[in-house]
This record gives sequence, C-alpha cells and structure tokens, in this order.
Amino acid sequence: MNRRRFLASIIKGFFTGAAVVYTSFVFAFLYPSRLREKVVRFIPVLEEDALPRRGVKTVLFSYPFRKHQVHTRAFIVRHRGELFALSPVCTHLGCMVNWHRGKGQFLCPCHGGKYDIEGRVVGGPPPRPLSRLPLRVEKGKVLIGVKV
Ligand code: FES
Repeated sequence: MNRRRFLASIIKGFFTGAAVVYTSFVFAFLYPSRLREKVVRFIPVLEEDALPRRGVKTVLFSYPFRKHQVHTRAFIVRHRGELFALSPVCTHLGCMVNWHRGKGQFLCPCHGGKYDIEGRVVGGPPPRPLSRLPLRVEKGKVLIGVKV
C-alpha cells in the first residue's frame, strides 16, 4: 500500500465513522422514545387479604432500578366497587401527595394541590389527575406495575 492509498483509507474511515455517529444522533432525535422505552415490571406490594374493603390504603414498596433500590409508595383505592392504584406524585411539580381521610382528599403539601378519592383535581394548581398505576391481583398477592 502506497502513501496515497493509506491516507485515502484513513480519510474514508473517518467519514464513515462520522456518518454513523451523525445518523445515530438524528435517529435519537427523531425517535427518542424507542431508545428509552421502558418496560412495566409488577412488584408485589400487599397480600390480597389486606386490600381495603373501601377507601384508601397506602402501600410502601421498593424495587431495583439501575443498580439502586427505589423506595416509594402508592395508594390502593377501593371506591364504588372499583379497585385501582394511584401514583403519589403530584402532577403540578412532582411533590408527594398524602391521603387525608377526614377531608376525603389527597393533599399536596407543596402548593396546595387537592385531588378527590379517584385522583381528580379539585383544587390548586395541578394540571392533571393523579396517574393510575397498573394493578394486578395474582395468587393471593397484589402487584403494582412500575416502569423500569
Ligand atoms: Fe403539588 Fe405544586 S407540587 S401542588
């Protein structure tokens, strides 16, 4: 291989590498959700016997996520015969809401957000209802779905 061919192959390799990097950036910009798509993993949080007959039950649970253990909570609600799970994350700026049994509302301590027992906004600045979390009851266990 002479000097000219050697330099040409180096330049060709450089531009090929640059094209691959550029294409991956364009793909990441156009389809970010495909690269970061998460899967839902169901975590056991409660025995089925401990489900609330009506009202709200707060459950604490943890699960591994990217070399860390995430400790969090959720609300399991039985209301008008329906069983569902609500996220405790306020939809305004992400503070953790608390259930206030006396008022029958979820209250956000940060800016006064209020949600009813179904998670609908009834006061304050939150723009959306509390998120519903996937919920399953299997083999006597209550499982909540988290995105990992
Ligand atoms: Fe909940 Fe602002 S973070 S009302």
